[in-house]
Amino acid sequence: MLLGKLVRLRPVEREDLPNYIQWVNDPDVLAYFGSYLPYNMVKEESWFESMSLAKDVINFAIEYDGRHVGGCGFLNIDHRNQSAEIGLFIGDKSVWDKGLGQDTLRVMLDYGFDHLNFHRIHLRVFAENARAIHAYEKVGFVHEGRFREAIWRHGRWHDMLFMSVLRREWRQ
Ligand SMILES: CC(C)(COP(=O)(O)OP(=O)(O)OC[C@H]1O[C@@H](n2cnc3c(N)ncnc32)[C@H](O)[C@@H]1OP(=O)(O)O)[C@@H](O)C(=O)NCCC(=O)NCCS
Repeated sequence: MLLGKLVRLRPVEREDLPNYIQWVNDPDVLAYFGSYLPYNMVKEESWFESMSLAKDVINFAIEYDGRHVGGCGFLNIDHRNQSAEIGLFIGDKSVWDKGLGQDTLRVMLDYGFDHLNFHRIHLRVFAENARAIHAYEKVGFVHEGRFREAIWRHGRWHDMLFMSVLRREWRQ
């Protein structure tokens, strides 16, 4: 549905759920991201059905080289204030650091600003997720703030960073 230089973003289908289960139970993928609970097909199907009907969520499957490699989406869409949160993960670790994350973000920012008429797109990221932060900075996300010791994971507290892009910044 949406084409980048490397990735293709398309709707998530029920047949994709086994891939999501594999990825959202992978400790490397989850090191600084998402849930800390085990996910099975019942939970995935419930997520799939609720997000497919939700009005404040738009999710995509990420494809690279004809393969499903991850997922991304807008959540907490707020039409009155023209804002949304963005989230993404490349579940297939073999294709990390090839530029897919940045390409996905660029496609989503174009779609969010040019088609969905967002004014502001924001995200949350663990302060130690250096790969993700580097990718976000490269595509133009600006640091907005830090919630100190907001997340308990791996037996210690982690800071959570907030970043955003405004439409006028993206246009430049
Ligand atoms: C974070 C994630 C989405 C990034 O996607 P990706 O396709 O691997 O990222 P890209 O290749 O587009 O960009 C990564 C950049 O970080 C750099 N990088 C890699 N490891 C790094 C590190 N430890 N410190 C700083 N930069 C790092 C890469 O060299 C690359 O930069 P470059 O383009 O200047 O060479 C992906 O790795 C992922 O899904 N990780 C697990 C889940 C996750 O953390 N999601 C984000 C939640 S906020």
